[in-house]
Amino acid sequence: MSQLFPRSADMWLRLALLLLFGGLAGVFVACVVLDRSDYVTGKGWIIRQPVPFSHEHHAGALKIDCRYCHDSVETSPVAGLPPIHTCMSCHSQIWTGADMLAPVRQSLAKDEALHWNRVSELPDYVYFHHDVHVNAGVGCETCHGQVDTMPLMNRAQTFTMSWCLDCHQDPAPRLRPPDAVVEMGWTTKQDRRELGERLIEENHIETQNLTDCYVCHR
Ligand code: HEC
Ligand code: HEC
Ligand code: HEC
Ligand code: HEC
Ligand code: HEC
Repeated sequence: MSQLFPRSADMWLRLALLLLFGGLAGVFVACVVLDRSDYVTGKGWIIRQPVPFSHEHHAGALKIDCRYCHDSVETSPVAGLPPIHTCMSCHSQIWTGADMLAPVRQSLAKDEALHWNRVSELPDYVYFHHDVHVNAGVGCETCHGQVDTMPLMNRAQTFTMSWCLDCHQDPAPRLRPPDAVVEMGWTTKQDRRELGERLIEENHIETQNLTDCYVCHR
């Protein structure tokens, strides 16, 4: 062999192998980093909608309660998106001819639901309930951000498993009194942990075993 190849071939082979494995490790690291980046989780991303509905305007300036439009959030697993007639309770009188609202009028005329593109969505194999969280005193804001400042809705959190687990490990300092769940920018002078621990006791919130796999994967 040593006659067929010059001595330096061995070095070149080593160098080639080194580059190959180094490259593979690099790709692997890049994948792992990318997998948890905002690019993949969609955090902060704004999704286009058929109508440029503004939460800043409706929930912020006009102060319409979240539950007026998301009316099953306290009583069922899903929050629910408002049907057209909810919009029409106001828009049959105001902004009636606005171009922006044309898709709303069309879907009303055709008696078809308006299709909103989803902003926060979990994979099918994850079990999630709105009502348990809202009734336990987890604010909309904690999971969806300062919705009343969003001209277009964006995804405020990563919604990854570790994000869920961060709270499930220690929910106390993240809880609020149930009557403050829909409030945006809620603050208190009380110590959050003390308050949370009192709420857990008063409202009989089950915080044991919240990190067991079967809680979210059943
Ligand atoms: C006047 C009706 C109305 C009110 C009031 C309202 N929303 Fe909405 N909400 C909508 C509509 C319509 C959509 C779908 C379009 C979009 O994503 O912006 C939506 C979408 C959302 C979404 C994204 C859902 C998803 O995954 O696609 C969240 C989160 C949300 N609203 C939270 C809130 C919170 C919190 C409040 C109260 C601070 C609130 N909304 C008040 C009508 C309303
Ligand atoms: C409680 C009354 C009310 C309801 C319910 C309501 N709106 Fe509005 N909306 C308003 C008012 C008032 C304005 C105009 C505000 C202004 O120009 O100052 C407005 C403005 C708008 C605009 C113009 C852009 C903007 O934000 O200024 C769009 C688009 C719109 N609404 C869509 C919707 C849709 C879609 C729904 C149903 C999911 C809805 N609205 C439900 C009161 C309402
Ligand atoms: C513990 C975190 C958490 C809290 C608290 C929370 N949400 Fe959500 N919300 C989610 C998750 C996660 C999804 C996606 C659910 C899915 O895809 O199954 C979601 C989805 C939604 C949607 C999309 C439609 C639907 O029916 O699922 C709306 C609207 C919404 N939330 C509104 C609200 C409002 C309003 C509140 C407060 C009253 C609230 N959420 C409180 C985590 C939360
Ligand atoms: C900010 C805190 C917080 C976050 C974030 C949170 N949870 Fe929870 N979750 C709770 C609390 C507190 C309870 C216990 C409620 C009770 O027992 O009254 C709970 C209970 C649950 C339950 C049990 C419901 C039942 O049937 O008893 C499920 C399932 C669940 N959470 C799923 C999720 C998933 C999935 C996510 C992430 C997308 C998530 N949670 C994010 C605080 C949180
Ligand atoms: C509080 C809720 C919650 C609990 C408890 C939980 N998971 Fe998850 N899990 C999620 C969510 C949300 C996702 C999807 C988002 C993501 O990929 O991070 C997920 C995704 C996964 C996936 C898909 C692979 C991946 O990372 O994309 C696997 C596997 C998994 N979980 C296993 C487990 C095991 C094993 C346990 C128990 C040790 C567990 N989970 C406990 C919420 C939970």
